[in-house]
Amino acid sequence: MLSTRKLTQLPSWKALEEHYRNIRGIHLRELFAGDLQRGERFAAEGAGIYLDYSKNRVTNETLRLLIRLAEECGLCERIDAMFRGEAINITEKRAALHAALRATRDQSIFVDGQNVVPKVYEVLDRMEDFVGRLRSGEWTGHTGKRIRNVVNIGIGGSDLGPAMAYEALKHFSARDMIFRFVSNVDGTDFTEATFDLDPAETLFIVSSKTFTTLETMTNAHTARRWTLQAFGDDHAIARHFVAVSTNAEEVSRFGIDTANMFGFWDWVGGRYSMDSAIGLSTMIAIGAGNFRAMLAGFHAMDEHFRTAPFERNLPVLMGLLTVWYNNFFGAQTVAVLPYDQYLKRFPAYLQQLTMESNGKRATLDGAYVDYETGPIFWGEPGTNGQHSFYQLIHQGTKLVPCDFIGFCRTLNPAGKHHDLLMANLLAQTEALAFGKTEDEVKAEGTPGWLAPHRVFEGNRPSNTILCERLTPELLGKLVALYEHSVFTQGTIWRIDSFDQWGVELGKVLAQRIIPELQSSDDARLNHDSSTNNLIRLYRRSRK
Ligand code: F6P
Repeated sequence: MLSTRKLTQLPSWKALEEHYRNIRGIHLRELFAGDLQRGERFAAEGAGIYLDYSKNRVTNETLRLLIRLAEECGLCERIDAMFRGEAINITEKRAALHAALRATRDQSIFVDGQNVVPKVYEVLDRMEDFVGRLRSGEWTGHTGKRIRNVVNIGIGGSDLGPAMAYEALKHFSARDMIFRFVSNVDGTDFTEATFDLDPAETLFIVSSKTFTTLETMTNAHTARRWTLQAFGDDHAIARHFVAVSTNAEEVSRFGIDTANMFGFWDWVGGRYSMDSAIGLSTMIAIGAGNFRAMLAGFHAMDEHFRTAPFERNLPVLMGLLTVWYNNFFGAQTVAVLPYDQYLKRFPAYLQQLTMESNGKRATLDGAYVDYETGPIFWGEPGTNGQHSFYQLIHQGTKLVPCDFIGFCRTLNPAGKHHDLLMANLLAQTEALAFGKTEDEVKAEGTPGWLAPHRVFEGNRPSNTILCERLTPELLGKLVALYEHSVFTQGTIWRIDSFDQWGVELGKVLAQRIIPELQSSDDARLNHDSSTNNLIRLYRRSRK
């Protein structure tokens, strides 16, 4: 039951503070030596994903207290409220109902008294019909040529999810088609994405929840010009542009027939939208069957999160561990290290999911926090990261909890590659946890002066997320795992994980600066001396 006390005054929080003082000096070596079954006991499986969290600096008592914290913060009630479609995004007065996007057809989920599941399926069915026609060649471009290139124009949640999913599921994609993703307002992005494409074979998907975002609309207008330049005929737009948006009015004002618009709803947050119509490029790439399998994966993890007891609930455990390091050990970051090349964009995707959701300091009741909230998420695929920043994780002065993600079976068997890859993952988690003592280093014959440089302190925590194979279904499960972990963290920190007011100020200031860069009227500059000076330098250089 949710307590009205301040987070830092909760009995479980106080108990965790004291428990931290007792545990901070204990090494993972001791924890493993004291419990020979630790590796099996501190593990859980949900929706077919195996989480080994034994290499974390936790005991049974830590978990008991963290779960008590979740209870005192009302996590159960918050989960129910989310799945019931309550307006838990309180600052925007909206539900956060991404779970409805992957509900089964026979489910009923109500928003404002309306069952939204039939609407979700109506859009999915339309997407499926369109994708079928496009992939079969029935839908052609203006000149009758088959569409071979798909360019998704969007940014943030309207780009990162589709771009990540395309890379992650490339193995399942139509290899005779080209997929590109344009997001940056830097004209280079559009130019490089289209320089080798034939306009007659190119479809643009303009993806924007609001259809007003500066970057997306600028790129969409450039794409429009690019297309018109090729055909000199307005009618071409209807064959080469479709839209994904919640804003039919703006879509139509842009010139896209709303018959070629795929909608979603305000209860889908941008960073939670890759499984909505925003996933149109994904569906074109992998086909409708694989897209539905991905949705089934999301749903399986939703059900796990909704029903599993906290002590065996993967998103809850991962969320609570993040809180444990963030708030008690003072860790500033979390490294996400997928040992799969297809997941190379996964850390970038997670950055928006985690940091746009939990990078906040105002609580749900409008007070400011007196504790840390969302950590910085970052990462690179293994083994590449091992040869760059792992040095700091192993021997630096900062504590960096890590999520290692690995697969038992590769999609591309090639000699011994996969065993080498997985051996490296396991070796890294082992080295981080147990390190190498000075005695061990010296016993190897290392001279005394060099020994400190070769010592590995160890006691550096990690999760290992072990999965069978990177399939569309698995990707859905993995994304939902992090979505719900983020929600668990936000619930503990009492923040609204579904708004993003922090992006507003920069957007407003940019609107003011745009005309100033284009004019030469120095007198009208009214910023601070640094910004004024930089604007003048820029103008001078442009002359
Ligand atoms: O600027 C942040 C943001 O609002 C994100 O939350 C969102 O995913 C992105 O911009 C794109 O917004 P839209 O889909 O409306 O273009």
